[in-house]
Amino acid sequence: MSSPERLAGRVILVTGASRGIGLAVARRCAEEGARVVITGRHEEGLNQARDAFPDPSRVLAVVAHAGSWEDAARVAARTLDHFGSLDGLVNNAATNPYFGPLVEADEARMRKAYEVNQAGVVAATAAAWRGWMRDHGGAVVNIASIGGMSVEPGIGWYNATKAAVLHLTRQLAYELAPRVRVNAVAPGLIRTEFARALWEPAEGVLSQRIPLGRIGEPADVAGAVAMLLSDDAAWITGSTLTIDGGTTSRPSGGVGEP
Ligand SMILES: NC(=O)c1ccc[n+]([C@@H]2O[C@H](COP(=O)([O-])OP(=O)(O)OC[C@H]3O[C@@H](n4cnc5c(N)ncnc54)[C@H](OP(=O)(O)O)[C@@H]3O)[C@@H](O)[C@H]2O)c1
Repeated sequence: MSSPERLAGRVILVTGASRGIGLAVARRCAEEGARVVITGRHEEGLNQARDAFPDPSRVLAVVAHAGSWEDAARVAARTLDHFGSLDGLVNNAATNPYFGPLVEADEARMRKAYEVNQAGVVAATAAAWRGWMRDHGGAVVNIASIGGMSVEPGIGWYNATKAAVLHLTRQLAYELAPRVRVNAVAPGLIRTEFARALWEPAEGVLSQRIPLGRIGEPADVAGAVAMLLSDDAAWITGSTLTIDGGTTSRPSGGVGEP
């Protein structure tokens, strides 16, 4: 159940919000009273997402690449020009261009994941800070992953960028306090396009391994992000909230496990 007025009067920017978790977060923020800015690389999908909001006039869609510092500055400027403030930022856009062992990874795809997933978080946060939050305050939520806390086959470099996001969250929380709060969420497996190759072939088996008995839905993440953006989290900064149905709260093959 959402709190209708919790984000009233706020302007929230969500990167990578034409579908999946980002779109669910943007919709939830709008339901809770915010005006929202959504970004993505592809104009058609982004505009379709905007037009499906109950009130598209309260949504600004800006085509932008999360790995570009120039785009980060342009999006912040457009947000301020259009809505007049930038009170919340959700660093959601991420990419996973390489699957395989670390020692076989190529430089180009490693750089791309680093630029979007890791440096992109700093770029967008810096743009929001310079443009609005330094003088007026604000809240930032980074979308990390439980992968940033674990060892898994094939997605080691992606997971390393997400481990960096966990650290960046604490570092930025320290650097931007007391006016700006910075937190993260670490989702487990969520039913989106991004993770389709993981959940689609084996959803039943995967669900059995998750204590709460199912994979996650984008809305499972959205409510927690809205809470962290709101004054309900007024004394929370530098924290990571795990949203994984209990995935990381089960035996992991450590010493002592039968
Ligand atoms: N799904 C999971 O199981 C899971 C688990 C843990 C964490 N996460 C994290 O959750 C976040 C969202 O993932 P998702 O599963 O919702 O993915 P998704 O369904 O694939 O959606 C990704 C969104 O980001 C946009 N995007 C992709 N690359 C971008 C870029 N370089 N610049 C700007 N926008 C970009 C996409 O639009 P365009 O293609 O038009 O750019 C799309 O709107 C990511 O940070 C991901 O690492 C996901």
